[in-house]
This record gives sequence, C-alpha cells and structure tokens, in this order.
Amino acid sequence: MTSFPKTTMLMQRGIDFLGSEYAILCGAMSWVSERNLVSAISNAGGFGVIACGAMTPDLLDTEIAETRKLTDKPFGVNLITMHPQLFDLIDVCSKHGVSHVVLAGGIPPKGSVEAIKDFGAKVIVFAPTLALAKKLLRQDRGAGGDALVIEGMEAGGHIGPVSTSVLAQEFLPELSEDHLVFVAGGIGRGQAIAGYLEMGAVGVQLGTRFACATESIAHENFKKAFFRANARDAITSVQVDPRLPVIPVRALKNKGTEEFTAKQIEVAKRLDSGEIEMGEAQLQIEHYWAGALRRAVIDGDVENGSIMAGQSVGMLKEEESVADIMQKLMTQSEEALTRR
Ligand SMILES: Cc1cc2nc3c(=O)[nH]c(=O)nc-3n(C[C@H](O)[C@H](O)[C@H](O)COP(=O)(O)O)c2cc1C
Repeated sequence: MTSFPKTTMLMQRGIDFLGSEYAILCGAMSWVSERNLVSAISNAGGFGVIACGAMTPDLLDTEIAETRKLTDKPFGVNLITMHPQLFDLIDVCSKHGVSHVVLAGGIPPKGSVEAIKDFGAKVIVFAPTLALAKKLLRQDRGAGGDALVIEGMEAGGHIGPVSTSVLAQEFLPELSEDHLVFVAGGIGRGQAIAGYLEMGAVGVQLGTRFACATESIAHENFKKAFFRANARDAITSVQVDPRLPVIPVRALKNKGTEEFTAKQIEVAKRLDSGEIEMGEAQLQIEHYWAGALRRAVIDGDVENGSIMAGQSVGMLKEEESVADIMQKLMTQSEEALTRR
C-alpha cells in the first residue's frame, strides 16, 4: 500500500486510538455492516464497525465470532442505546474482548459506559450539541466516552438537524485539543477528509460511500438505486404529528417514504386512543425503520423498503472494492494537503 504521510500525520491520534492503518471508520449500517463489509474495511486499513441494530445477544455473538474469522485487524461494535437488552449485548462484547464499542441512538443509559470500560474497551459516543459532547466526554469516575463522532444532517439514516460543516466549526475548535473527534456526514471524497483533519478532526466516518462496495452484501437492486440517485433524491422523513416526535431519517425517495407517513398516522392514533404509550410508540417507529431497511437491503424491494442514503450518494456511480475506495480517499486527501 502507498503511504500517505501528510494525511496520516493529521490522523495520528485517531490511528493510535483505533489501532488501524487509517483513521477512517465505516459507520455501522444496519443490515449492511455485517461480517463481510466490516472485515473488508478493517483489512483495507480502515476501521469496520458491526451494526448490532435490533440483533439479539445470540446473533451478535455469532456476528462477532464470524467477523474475527475474516480479519485479525481491529473492528468495533455499534450498539443502539435504546435496545432493551443493551447490557446483555455489552456482556457479549465483553466475552469477545471487543476493543471499541460505539454507543449510538441517544444518550448512553446510566452504567453503560462504565460497563464497557470495565472490560477494557474504548467507548465512542455521539452528541448533537456541544454542551452534551462536553458532558459525555468528561472523565469523572471513569464514566466518560473516549472519543466523539459528530454527524451532520447530510448523512444517511437517522440524522440531527445541523449540517456537518456547521458542527465541525462549532465543535472542533472547542474540543480537538483535549479530545478525539471524528467527523461524519456527507463525506464522499478525500478532499473533504483533508479539510476536516486540518480543522482538528482526528479522523472521519463514512457510511454511504461504502454501503455499495463490492464486499457489501446489499442487494443488487439496492446498489443500483444508489448508483442512479442524485444528492437531491436523498430526502429526510417528515414528522406528521407534533405529539409524536420521530427522529428524521434520510433515505432515497420512493413509495416507502409515503408509507412511513401512513405508519406515523397509525401509531399516532393508537397513542391518542391510549392503546400504547409514548415509549412504545417510538419503539414501533424504530421497528418500522429496521423492517423497511431490511426489505430494501436484503430483499431488494427498493419500491417499498427504505433505501437509507446520505447526500453523498450522488457521487457514487459504480461498484468498487473497499480497498479501492479506501486508497482513493487517502490519495485525494494526500493530494489536497500536498497542494496547500
Ligand atoms: C443504510 C444506512 C444504515 C445506517 N444504519 C445505522 C445504524 O444502524 N446505526 C448507526 O449508528 N448509524 C447508522 N447509519 C449512519 C452511518 O453509520 C454513518 O454515520 C453515516 O452513514 C455517515 O454519513 P454518510 O452517509 O454521509 O457517509 C446508517 C447509514 C446508512 C446509509
């Protein structure tokens, strides 16, 4: 592999933290980030992350074991904080001596960060605001996250309301000296990686760019939909009922987008009638997404399923191997830094 001295120098703290060759994470993508893609990313010098999503502890156990068979490089596991068996999943990670756990989907519940650090793993957290980021990274009583991902609204999947460029300007000057910050959302080319590294990021996280790599098990129809799409096709879901807050999801526009509106109305009605409580209503919405994504990724139903994709989807034109994508990103970043 070629060396990329300027880029790796700026990534050094991220590289040391992840134990990978490059500080490029492939963000966990439910159904997509399984053993094949995760091991391919880590084998290509990046850092793969298994998406646990709604998996049971048994399924996660198998997935970690199978990933280990395919790579001897480090990789992480992404756990969704609202998973009802979060602590059992942490036990599975402990059993396998997983080196990095990413806690996504909300504020880590009490005791979860400590439980992960207790078995020696590093914890990566997300934070939508600077104040929350500072709180989650505070190391009192060993309860703080070890690194932070800031993710802008250009990203695919569940998103916040602020763009990556604004988050980067807001968070990096305040945090980058004392903390490890990775930037995610809308990154399609290495030139953007160079920019965020120069602003103080220690690395980046991409999802969309890797979702349709050769090694990704995503259905051919899912991949074709990605290669056809433009940035403007990756739209966010709309909240229909003000009483039922749903986290917006960015996905390619299709019939499934409309079905989600109908689903929200149905859940809101059940909430109104007292049939279900708010927590259950939100869980039903999340289950809907998991099912809809599976339909598109695994079954190839790109009409009715959810084709979660970020705005960088417009830059994807053909299937490439993970190694090629990784080398392209690093080369583009290096060339940009060399030109400075
Ligand atoms: C198809 C798809 C599924 C995703 N699923 C998850 C998930 O299960 N958990 C998670 O934390 N992030 C998820 N994400 C977000 C990615 O991990 C990553 O942060 C994001 O894709 C980065 O932005 P980008 O898409 O602009 O590269 C998903 C993204 C996509 C495109």
